[in-house]
Amino acid sequence: FLSNCVVGASLEEITEEEEEEDENKPTLLEASSAKLKEGTFQIVGTLSTPESHWPNFAVETYSAISREDLLMRLLECDVIVYNITESHQQVEEAIWAVSALNEEVSHFEKRKVFILVSTVMTWARSRPLDPDDTEVPFTEEEYRRRRNHPNFLDHINAEKMVLKFGKNAKKFATYVVAAGLQYGVEGGILHTFFKIAWLGEVPALPVFGDGTNVIPAIHVLDLAGVIQNIIDHVPKLHYLVAVDESVQTLEDIVKCISKNTGPGKVQKLPKENAFLTKDLT
Ligand SMILES: *[C@@H]1O[C@H](CO)[C@@H](O)[C@H](O)[C@H]1NC(C)=O
Repeated sequence: FLSNCVVGASLEEITEEEEEEDENKPTLLEASSAKLKEGTFQIVGTLSTPESHWPNFAVETYSAISREDLLMRLLECDVIVYNITESHQQVEEAIWAVSALNEEVSHFEKRKVFILVSTVMTWARSRPLDPDDTEVPFTEEEYRRRRNHPNFLDHINAEKMVLKFGKNAKKFATYVVAAGLQYGVEGGILHTFFKIAWLGEVPALPVFGDGTNVIPAIHVLDLAGVIQNIIDHVPKLHYLVAVDESVQTLEDIVKCISKNTGPGKVQKLPKENAFLTKDLT
């Protein structure tokens, strides 16, 4: 997505009609194609595994690289994005990276932007703002009151660390994006439900628990758009929640997948059964 975005493009105001046919916005096809437009972001990055193939949007990729060498590469970048949403291993590296960069701040020739893509799971146990009215919504400004799901303690600690190092925003601006469940482009947790649907081995798709829980979600390309906007705008607010505006429950989502790609039916199963589904991490 970013390799097709011209740096600063999101600063140009677009009217709503223009947005509908916005030609600068990369389509799904373009987002994965190699051709480089002039003035677009140049992407370098580490491969998720040494065996992964070189994605054609990247100018350079690294694998099995020492921390010392990695820091040299990071120092060459204007923007650093760490995606810790689905990988505990990346949490540790992200904390190291933001700390190591922070120590080098005095040598930065121009401002660097560090973006941590985290997850709304760091909000999962937040208490309602008003105990008598559980419908009062949280806003991003109240991020200090968030409470993490117990499995996401490392993630919330990484978030705090990243924000702490962003005090000198003129030289080193740091951001945390708490993303909803990511879907689209074959990735994400919903993949499991699509897979069950197309395998066609069960008469109904499983809904774990009563299914009334609202699932904050975001299409991965929209999340990429959020990241593009942060890079271009360097906003004042350093903690952002990135979720679709739609309010869908687990049951809504599974029903929709079942209706459109599967057997059409859903079946409620005890919550614990989710642990028996190997694909669901
Ligand atoms: C973050 O990583 C997860 C797991 O590797 C992946 O599914 C997701 O698409 C990534 N998101 C972004 C915005 O890079």
